[in-house]
Amino acid sequence: MQKTYLFAGASSAIAQETHRQLRAEGHRVIGLSTKDIGELGYSAYHQVSEYSKDFLPEIAQPLDGLVYFPGTINLKPFHRITEEAFMQEYKINALGAVSVVQRYLQNLKNAPPTPSIVFISTVAVAQGMNFHTAIGMAKGAIEGLTLALAAELAPTIRVNAVAPSLTTTPLADKLINAPEKLEASSKRHPMRRIGQPEDIAHAIGFLLGEQSSWVTGQILRVDGGMSSVRMM
Ligand SMILES: NC(=O)c1ccc[n+]([C@@H]2O[C@H](COP(=O)([O-])OP(=O)(O)OC[C@H]3O[C@@H](n4cnc5c(N)ncnc54)[C@H](OP(=O)(O)O)[C@@H]3O)[C@@H](O)[C@H]2O)c1
Repeated sequence: MQKTYLFAGASSAIAQETHRQLRAEGHRVIGLSTKDIGELGYSAYHQVSEYSKDFLPEIAQPLDGLVYFPGTINLKPFHRITEEAFMQEYKINALGAVSVVQRYLQNLKNAPPTPSIVFISTVAVAQGMNFHTAIGMAKGAIEGLTLALAAELAPTIRVNAVAPSLTTTPLADKLINAPEKLEASSKRHPMRRIGQPEDIAHAIGFLLGEQSSWVTGQILRVDGGMSSVRMM
């Protein structure tokens, strides 16, 4: 059966790949973006100035699922991160997700049997990493939101998150834009490679679809073993 999903942050490389996979299965995806995404082939799209409730358009139809993609990766030593920078990171990664879910909660409730919300976290929550305080804090909030909201919305709406490690997208470009950086990053992962958008998109597609209808309140760590496996 054809489903309709909403992607916030639809310009993201991972969002685009997830869209490609879902469209191939016959589903519709509506995109929200702060950029002009007219060229990206979404079933419908809206350009927004920010992910805050007052700026989000009305969407008439029921939504079988919603994914909040926006994220940042400003890696700096702790002492050099201003309070404003912490707030900005928190706003894009965490508060925006709250606004989008609040805005479209009724659309989700109108799409039985079990509509699905998926958030995107990061490996840097389960695994402490230097220079990751701002993003670790903001995405840590997303993981807390995932669990609390899953409890509050059960059994009507499922809520899960995917937590990737380093993945080939524009966001990560600074970290992998030279062969030696890419090699060092690949070696750090037990699976000896970094992620591709397809790896993350498959996990998101699973959490959106009916095959995961008994899964809620989970953080799916798609990270090449980075957060949980140590090579001896
Ligand atoms: N790539 C990685 O290594 C990696 C690792 C762990 C987690 N993640 C997470 O994966 C998600 C998708 O990112 P990606 O890797 O696909 O990167 P990407 O292609 O660079 O996409 C960046 C995303 O962030 C949004 N964004 C960027 N700056 C923004 C701003 N100032 N205000 C609001 N939104 C902004 C974009 O939304 P618009 O469409 O509105 O521009 C887009 O959704 C993010 O949540 C990221 O934290 C990525």
